[in-house]
Amino acid sequence: MLAIKKDHILPQRYLKMSQADIIEAIKKRKLFYKEKLLILAHHYQKDEIVNLADSVGDSLELAKIAKANQTAEHIIFCGVHFMAETADMLSNNHQKVYLPDAMAGCSMADMATLKQLEIAWSRLSDKIVGNIMPITYINSSAAVKAFIGDHQGVIVTSGNAEKILKRALSDNKTVLFLPDQHLGRNTAYHLGVKLDEMAVWQPKREQLIMSEKQSEIKVILWQGRCCVHQQYTTNQIKALRQLIPDLRVIVHPECPLEVVLAADDYGSTKKIIDVISQSPKGSKWAIGTDNNLVNRLINKLPEHQIVSLNPSAFSCLTMNRIHLAHLLWTMDEIEIGSERQVIKVNSEIAKSSLKALDRMLG
Ligand code: 13P
Ligand code: SF4
Repeated sequence: MLAIKKDHILPQRYLKMSQADIIEAIKKRKLFYKEKLLILAHHYQKDEIVNLADSVGDSLELAKIAKANQTAEHIIFCGVHFMAETADMLSNNHQKVYLPDAMAGCSMADMATLKQLEIAWSRLSDKIVGNIMPITYINSSAAVKAFIGDHQGVIVTSGNAEKILKRALSDNKTVLFLPDQHLGRNTAYHLGVKLDEMAVWQPKREQLIMSEKQSEIKVILWQGRCCVHQQYTTNQIKALRQLIPDLRVIVHPECPLEVVLAADDYGSTKKIIDVISQSPKGSKWAIGTDNNLVNRLINKLPEHQIVSLNPSAFSCLTMNRIHLAHLLWTMDEIEIGSERQVIKVNSEIAKSSLKALDRMLG
């Protein structure tokens, strides 16, 4: 859980500026820094942030961009805390990574602490016969990633979970998948793992929940979830299909299994964008993921008929903490050499995490 310090609160002077003035000031600073400054934005960011970013992507794409970039001395990450940490670990020593709002965490990542993981690991190692391979979703803290790196584990994103989990299962490993039970369950299910070959680890109760018919445990799912993706249901899919003939539904794998099964397709934010943009004009789509992205697609692809699976769903609250004013404030802090928004992972933790990140990126 992130703690807010007083000096991390946006100064009043930015609140007095008009949006147009803020945008102009940001553009001016971008021109000044040129390739020495890189602004990265996740697809769930607000339109006004996405419009000013140098690169926009899903978690996997942004991690790759941060690793490949050699020229930017300053990387401003408009996303959430674990993304900025990952970018810091993947970038070079001379590069600094900034998170414009220190409170932009991820509630799912907070559902797996290092302490909880250590307890789970020791309990499960006593219980499970054979090797357990830990796999963490990139939506986890650097400390959790470090544990994974030190225990021969690997990191996945929603864009590569299937490929990496497939490899682990073909090595006959029992997989501990954290922190998102839904990404783990959806991916394992589509790889042919039966539901009664999966168990759930409850970190708060320190308990393994198995089905009555449990034969062999192939995957242990950590009981974490994304609050945004719990807002999509099979009833919404049913209702929209009745209303719109020939509708196709695509959802993010952080949605529960029954929703993924009721949809026509599922995938990372990049996959959702690719599938819809490459579909014929006039295609009808309902999307089950963050509404900032859905509304952007509705506006960008007017020749497709796109609706949100749940138009009244709230967008990710922490992603939305980043406003244009935070971006400008970060640039101003860079200008005066302040490190207020810098995200720096401890070097020992980074070294261990990188083992797991490198296994993912190959
Ligand atoms: P992707 O960027 O991998 O699609 O994940 C979405 C998400 O919830 C990021 O926190
Ligand atoms: Fe975390 Fe969900 Fe927000 Fe992604 S959308 S940052 S998983 S809370």
